[in-house]
Amino acid sequence: MTDLPTQADVLIIGAGAAGLMCASVAGKRGRSVLVLDHANKVGKKILMSGGGRCNFTNLYTAPDNFYSENPHFCKSALARYTQWDFIALVEKHGISYHEKTLGQLFCDNKSRDIVDLLLAECREARAQIRTRCEIQRVEPLAPKGFEVHTALGKVVCESLVIATGGLSIPTMGATGFGYDLAKQFGHNIIPTRAALVPFTLNKRALARQQALPGTSLAVNASCGSGHFHEQMLFTHKGLSGPAVLQISSHWKKGMPVTFDLTPGLDLPEWLNAQRGKRQESFLHTVLAELWSKKLVQFFLQRNGIESKPLKQYSEQAIKVVGEKLQTWTLTPEGTEGYRTAEVTLGGVDTHEVSSRSMESMKQPGLYFIGEVLDVTGWLGGFNFQWAWASAHAAGGEV
Ligand code: FDA
Repeated sequence: MTDLPTQADVLIIGAGAAGLMCASVAGKRGRSVLVLDHANKVGKKILMSGGGRCNFTNLYTAPDNFYSENPHFCKSALARYTQWDFIALVEKHGISYHEKTLGQLFCDNKSRDIVDLLLAECREARAQIRTRCEIQRVEPLAPKGFEVHTALGKVVCESLVIATGGLSIPTMGATGFGYDLAKQFGHNIIPTRAALVPFTLNKRALARQQALPGTSLAVNASCGSGHFHEQMLFTHKGLSGPAVLQISSHWKKGMPVTFDLTPGLDLPEWLNAQRGKRQESFLHTVLAELWSKKLVQFFLQRNGIESKPLKQYSEQAIKVVGEKLQTWTLTPEGTEGYRTAEVTLGGVDTHEVSSRSMESMKQPGLYFIGEVLDVTGWLGGFNFQWAWASAHAAGGEV
């Protein structure tokens, strides 16, 4: 590896999804680009994403799939670099992929394919990348530009791009660097919290569900204004699965979460109909058509419902049983936090950043891209699409 260059037109801090994409776009415009990262290798989150197959975008990406205090902010970048643009890039590199569910596109082979794609694009753009490089401090220069002090030396640049991501998975290199730097230049930070994260339950609740870890079922999860029809998974610590990860983005400490356990089916009515047809059948036998035996036992016990032949319930009684069983409302004790969260809600306030170029309105030449901004996607490839789109917007301007 050669020494650290002392000068670059564009210095990008963070060699993750957004940083590498931005480097390739800016480099292809003829800008000299240097990317610095403190981790030992680039794109660590890409490598671990999508269970090792990187859910790199979503066919149905739209601004409604993102949370932000400023919901209009993401529209321009998403419209100018769409999921179809990234798919075209994936195809240009001969990477085979498939739709898993709900428009979610995954690599057929490994997430490594996406990191290799980005590195190949950076090579073509002559962007230089240095890992294991601690950033010590950043000083603005007059009349423009920045001096960036690192453990490997000092770099002077015209444009500085912050692509350091969010706080989730600190063991993968996540830090609050981007937020601290934004504050240094007078930016407001929308309070951050872990999202797309499993719920934890208290000891009593865990004891009740101790036979269930590994069991899943389709639910409709609701919390505040959020509703998601997906799978829920019981874990040793509480609840997970796509429905829970999605609804966690709407959850704050103390809020109840409601699960419709038979989405699309009116359970009181269905049980009443069964009662007419199968009078000798026990309640638990009938319910086993909807849920696994373990789940039937759990839901009956949780509601203190005794299983009897259906003929022994009145029409009113079976409806009450159905109502109790259909809906499960609980207040999670907490979440697993940044240790396992896929993303961070909140971040650099987008009211102070240009939606066209991602440039700071407080400090000319300073740009923020990717997850460090207060733009957070749903589960399903949306967060990478935001990384690509915001990086592309900045890469065309820096
Ligand atoms: P990203 O986190 O990719 O990169 C930030 C870079 O900055 C890192 O390389 C880091 O080392 C570096 N950095 C941080 N602090 C620094 C400092 N102080 N100095 C120097 N460098 C620093 N999304 C999706 O759409 N589909 C998916 O399948 C998944 N799956 C997934 C699984 C798991 C386990 C996680 C944790 C996350 C996902 N995500 C996801 C979310 C997705 O990974 C995330 O939104 C993007 O990687 C964000 O891209 P950024 O480039 O903004 O940050």
